Amino acid sequence: MCGIVGYIGKKEKKELILSALKELEYRGYDSAGIAVMKDGRIDAFKAIGKLGNLEKKTKDFTSHNEGAAIGHTRWATHGKPTEINAHPHFGEHSYIVHNGIIENYREIKEALIKEGITFLSQTDTEVAVYLFEYNLKNSKNAFEAFEKTILSLKGAYAILLITTTAPDSIFFAKNAAPLIVGKNDEGEIFFGSSDAPLIGHAKEVCYLEDGQYGVLNKNEILLYADRKKVLPVFKDLPQDKSYAQKEGFRFFMEKEIYEQSRVLGETLMGRIKNNEIVLEELDEHLFEGISAVKICACGTSFHAGLAAGYLFERFAKIRTDIIIASEFRYKEPLLTKDTLFVVISQSGETADTLEALKIAKNAGLKTLAICNVDNSSIVRLADSTILTRAGIEKGVASTKAFATQVATLWLLAIFIAQKQKSVSKERLESEIDTLLKIPSSLIVDNATHEKIKRLSKRYLHGHGFFFIGRDIFYPLALEGALKLKEISYLHAEGYPAGEMKHGPIALVDSKLFTVALLPKTMLYDKTKNNIEELSARDATILVISPERFELADDFIKTQHSTHVMNEFFEMMIILQLLALEIAVRLGNDVDMPRNLAKSVTVE
Ligand code: G6P
Repeated sequence: MCGIVGYIGKKEKKELILSALKELEYRGYDSAGIAVMKDGRIDAFKAIGKLGNLEKKTKDFTSHNEGAAIGHTRWATHGKPTEINAHPHFGEHSYIVHNGIIENYREIKEALIKEGITFLSQTDTEVAVYLFEYNLKNSKNAFEAFEKTILSLKGAYAILLITTTAPDSIFFAKNAAPLIVGKNDEGEIFFGSSDAPLIGHAKEVCYLEDGQYGVLNKNEILLYADRKKVLPVFKDLPQDKSYAQKEGFRFFMEKEIYEQSRVLGETLMGRIKNNEIVLEELDEHLFEGISAVKICACGTSFHAGLAAGYLFERFAKIRTDIIIASEFRYKEPLLTKDTLFVVISQSGETADTLEALKIAKNAGLKTLAICNVDNSSIVRLADSTILTRAGIEKGVASTKAFATQVATLWLLAIFIAQKQKSVSKERLESEIDTLLKIPSSLIVDNATHEKIKRLSKRYLHGHGFFFIGRDIFYPLALEGALKLKEISYLHAEGYPAGEMKHGPIALVDSKLFTVALLPKTMLYDKTKNNIEELSARDATILVISPERFELADDFIKTQHSTHVMNEFFEMMIILQLLALEIAVRLGNDVDMPRNLAKSVTVE
């Protein structure tokens, strides 16, 4: 996801901004740019690809003495990763960098085009700088024009703007995208999308709140919300870099679990408009002549695919089968052109998934990638892509990538249902309504996390774990078992709850731990019966459910919800935390477990 930095002070600005952008590389990006203002003039540079390209372009540029500078790393959302689409975007006197999505950019763009303004890029960001310059003509000063501009934007943004009409200042705004202001005793000012680039430079930081905007120069900080002045609250910035990247969490995996609610917001951003799913990245003819879907993936992405199978058949009423990529490659698959071939991959580089995609393409099938990394090999090869927008995932055990994959596939299922009119209008409306609110189901409940920390000590021995669930909770059970295996090195298997009696139940005794997913909205009584069968054979059972269950040895309570996906995501978080806390107690390397790699580029 995009990264933003800014600086006001005397230091050499190019070096400072480039090194700050390096600290944001972990977020992932496909182009970068900087703009530096000195003596009332702005110099700007942009380059696609890695920061090294921007370094080369700016090699003969320096800027000492008092001035202001902004920088950006872009993760493409609107428009391809080209130099024109890279930030900063500029008008006649001003340069802007932006992270997020301006949802009403089309309306603003159309209105500005009518005023005779010509746009250069395909981005949503460009409207903000042109609107600012348009407003300047009818405003007392640059701040008034900036305020008018910000108050007419809808969506998510962290924005920095510099303009020769107010040299020495940086205008800023934040809504649903992170932005931090830092300062030190030398009178220098810093901005960053996370605190990582500020460490070692700023002494104190102010984490801006949604809806805040203002202007800053070395003499004063003016902060506003809704046209009213607010007092910025600064606090000391810890000076340990590794702490900053993990944002206070013990492990990247833990940070990524906690990030899921926010990144799911990014997954949905701009994709639901006026109660309709809008997937602008898909060709409108993609589903013509399609009567089946084949999903192919590995690991956690395969589990997201299995979950999608339930959603696609249930909502989109489209025949769906799901296969592990390494199996698909050699089974001499029968492929027909009425099948949409969907690959799911966090990295976009997994060798088996990539090869499967090639086979499908060679057979003339239409292909679609659900992927987290733009410009990855899979994205480049597939006919269409929907990016999951989880941001860079560092923990080898995938968490937020899975959550965003499932959300994207759910979005796609509803999108197909909407297109094919396969479910009633009321059902569609209720799905979209739930989807819009889903990020709140992924907020980690501190009390539940504390309980899992305590419970985890009881699950360090035994001869294995069964994770059981029915329907879409079966792939979730598989994913829960995989998380535990990956980082605790304990033996764990996921099973459909109804399948236990066909063999696995033979293993059950008091040293066999069963983690049972017992949602209220999906086959509650049937799953309960299956758990009772295990309890009768003396299994040690941890039940996760909104309803207390008498026969459980341990119980983790979830919220009563009306929609199955609220329960799905809430239970997903619990399973991730359970794996994490067991692994922590066992003293394992949570972020880099033995024998595993984040991206598997070999067969
Ligand atoms: C590796 C990772 C897993 C991941 C799998 C598929 O095994 O350790 O976490 O699920 O690859 O990766 P992909 O990038 O294609 O989703």
